[in-house]
Amino acid sequence: MQTDLRGRDLITEQEWTREEIDTLLDVAWDLKRKRALGESHAYLRDKVMAMLFFFTSTRTRASFEAGMAQLGGHAQFIDSETTQISHGDTAKEIGEILGRYCDGIAIRQCDWNFGNQYIREVAQASRVPVLNMQCDVYHPFQILADMMTIQEKLGRDLRGRTINVSYAYASSYQKPLSVPQSLILLMTRYGMNVRLAHPPEFALMPDIVQQAKDNTKASGGSFEMMDEFDAGFKDADVIYAKSWGCWMATEDKAESAVIGKKYTNWITDERRMALAKESAIYMHCLPADRNIEVTDGVIDGPQSVVYDEAENRLHVQKAAMALTMR
Ligand code: CP
Repeated sequence: MQTDLRGRDLITEQEWTREEIDTLLDVAWDLKRKRALGESHAYLRDKVMAMLFFFTSTRTRASFEAGMAQLGGHAQFIDSETTQISHGDTAKEIGEILGRYCDGIAIRQCDWNFGNQYIREVAQASRVPVLNMQCDVYHPFQILADMMTIQEKLGRDLRGRTINVSYAYASSYQKPLSVPQSLILLMTRYGMNVRLAHPPEFALMPDIVQQAKDNTKASGGSFEMMDEFDAGFKDADVIYAKSWGCWMATEDKAESAVIGKKYTNWITDERRMALAKESAIYMHCLPADRNIEVTDGVIDGPQSVVYDEAENRLHVQKAAMALTMR
């Protein structure tokens, strides 16, 4: 267990050691248990965390806000559009100023080729920990909640288990690469056999893919890429098929919509779930485009763990806040 995490930023889980991540998960289970028993766990009494959003959210905002209250502190919602950020407050100014008012700063900034850089600039200027609530490259708290959920369902030792991280079609908007990228980075560190399936235009960032490959060398897992949707499901233990944008091919919304239309058959349905192990679980970070990305039958079916997955956002985030903001 690594107990010295006070003051640490969490911008990508890749920058935390395996021991540090295991500590965070261990604390998350303890906090989940305490909440179930109604035990007080006000580790952050009188502390304030700024939550700065440049992009919409349901789960992330609600879970960070609830979590901070349960820890005895307060989470302050700051919307980029309705503050002077929209008139030019810089990342450095935000880091300096919010760092003086608050005990932690959490940020969601998903703009392509900008979000991660912005969060790092704030962190550079801030005297308090900075937590990444999702950027263009990473979504660390989603993936920590995913890891907690997988370990609850399949057991703590995930070596030899197969996860299918797959593209699925959606019509709503060009979603960031952050979920599949953080998934392949973390799951390869736990000895899993990671499959990444997507059409050619929906590639992830090459350096992230290389890091995922490198992770398998230390963990003993494997990493395989495929461009056929059905193949990813075969005998898998975990199905995680979700939409993302073809950012590496184009940033143009109209062009990406045209490309996406070629893959409307990339929908997780009952036939495809039957290709996976009978015990396989279905995961999705949500929101999902129902009956476009996944059928109601699958997402509401017996293999779906999406609500446990959403709940675990609360517990991992509370663990991270309690460990870094004490
Ligand atoms: N999964 C997730 O991050 O959900 P929100 O976009 O609603 O926060």
